[in-house]
Amino acid sequence: MRGVTDQPGTVDLTGRTPPWPRPAAELWRACLTRSLAGEEPWEVPPRAGHPELRAALGEHLDLDPDALAITSGVRASLPYLMSGSTRLILERPTFLELGVVARGAGHRVTLAELDAVLAGRAADDTAVLWLTHPARNPDGRSLGAAELDRLLTLVPAYRRIVVNRTYQWYRPAALPAAFIQVGTLHKLTGGGMRVGWIWPVPASYHGLPADGGPPGPWQLALAAFIRAGGLRLLSGNPIDEQARRRHFEGLLGRPGTGSGSGIGSSERDLYCGAQLLLPVTGSEPDVVRALAANGVRVSPGRAFAAPGHVRLSWAGRTDGQLAVAATRINEVLAAHTRRTG
Ligand SMILES: Cc1ncc(COP(=O)(O)O)c(C=O)c1O
Repeated sequence: MRGVTDQPGTVDLTGRTPPWPRPAAELWRACLTRSLAGEEPWEVPPRAGHPELRAALGEHLDLDPDALAITSGVRASLPYLMSGSTRLILERPTFLELGVVARGAGHRVTLAELDAVLAGRAADDTAVLWLTHPARNPDGRSLGAAELDRLLTLVPAYRRIVVNRTYQWYRPAALPAAFIQVGTLHKLTGGGMRVGWIWPVPASYHGLPADGGPPGPWQLALAAFIRAGGLRLLSGNPIDEQARRRHFEGLLGRPGTGSGSGIGSSERDLYCGAQLLLPVTGSEPDVVRALAANGVRVSPGRAFAAPGHVRLSWAGRTDGQLAVAATRINEVLAAHTRRTG
């Protein structure tokens, strides 16, 4: 994020996108230069996205391109996904900005724990149920096979069930078409790309007024970038952060939620991705401030409906930076515990 000035040596664990590796940046520039020469700025891309981008992204994601629509990202696609409903049920914990967008559009938003959802206690056939899988933000929790089967039986209990695959790069796996999938490139590329997708979209979607997706030349450049392996240059394929997670927890000497002594290995394996939720005692804003003063930037749990925690997100950070961060976090939490008793 421009405009944020950290002390030299600050380790940023807020999930800031790292700069692209040079081969990816050069490939992107070449693709964009070529597409700018061919497309006219006044042409409006088709409502569901440029066919070339739908084909390239569909192939990359292993999703039928005919049923794939290009969007400007997950938050931008929320209004369409709410159509026919006035109530959004978000699984807790979650990325709360989705609730902010929904409330802004006049929808009622409620939060529900995964257990309650799976037990059928949240069911409402006028509501959209929204879960994130795999690697839910903020704690990395994914749904197990039995949970996905159970969720499938709940499809008729809601207006629709949306599965947010923002973190699918960590555990790519096909999902049943009974769920509406929504995704974004922003965790790979950074939010500046302004590209996401919805799958499957009904035929009626194509008749809706155009709302976005980026301009045509941008979409064409991205199609060429994907075909030339650009997303793989950014992601590795798939990204395996499991070992780093264990290593980081070891350095911290304390488990994130979903780990810890009372938790079995099959439950623990549901957690993946490059972020974890760490319980803290006392005032969460105080802990966030004290960590920043000691050279580690983290996100407050309350931004994800998880008060009493901080979220550590390490995509793009080196092992050396994680070691430095762990030492500083341990110092701050030890001092904080001494002070708050
Ligand atoms: C679960 C989840 N969904 C969506 C987003 C944002 O996606 P977009 O930028 O495409 O709106 C984030 C970003 O942190 C996220 O964590």
